[in-house]
Amino acid sequence: MVDLIAKTEEFVKREMYEDSTGHDWFHIDRVRNIALQIHEKEKSGDPLIIELAALLHDISDEKLHTLKEIGDEKLTTFLNLLPLNEVKKNHIKEIIETISFKGGNNRNITSVEAAIVQDADRLDAIGAIGIARAFAYGGKKGQSIYDPSISIRTSMTNEEYRKGKSSSINHFYEKLLKLKETMNTKSGTEIAETRHAFMESFLHEFYNDWNGKRQ
Ligand code: ADP
Ligand code: NI
Repeated sequence: MVDLIAKTEEFVKREMYEDSTGHDWFHIDRVRNIALQIHEKEKSGDPLIIELAALLHDISDEKLHTLKEIGDEKLTTFLNLLPLNEVKKNHIKEIIETISFKGGNNRNITSVEAAIVQDADRLDAIGAIGIARAFAYGGKKGQSIYDPSISIRTSMTNEEYRKGKSSSINHFYEKLLKLKETMNTKSGTEIAETRHAFMESFLHEFYNDWNGKRQ
């Protein structure tokens, strides 16, 4: 089992170390750690499936590949190298397929392991780290920190979510502030509440500074 994890870590590090859209190795490592933490608190789910799915959850991401099929192929090829039965391999693939946000247009969660990994991935998008990731991603995409002339999008397709014009501050309203309500587990919700409150105070300070209000 240790070997399985070490092998997966090595593969993921090689594939994701250089990424600067917020999907680097450290994001993966944080998601794995928080997923295992939730699993311990909830006392449910198979920890091996949770850890492997967390480690592999962004390998086939559509943003990191020109074609979604290339990412899927990479994941399948790697999973086939692991000494795991078909049921477990398919479970891991199913988790990865279902957890992505995609502008709110995601599929239903089908297992407790998926619920936990999705919570962990969402927790890494909010709070202090989430704020840092939003501005890093926005900079990489070339969007502004904030532009009051760009309105907040209330509903959007997956395509619009990825390609439409936005700002990093708008992203808080289009995604980050909604995540707390979408948590699947009790322990995930508790962590989300603290991180959510931190984002709200960040936004409060941001607008004060933007408007030149004296402290
Ligand atoms: P997911 O894990 O649901 O696939 P994404 O891949 O969409 O999340 O996003 C990766 C990181 O980049 C997250 O922290 C997310 O909040 C941030 N991000 C995604 N889209 C934008 C955007 N338009 N503006 C700012 N940050 C974004
Ligand atoms: Ni992720």
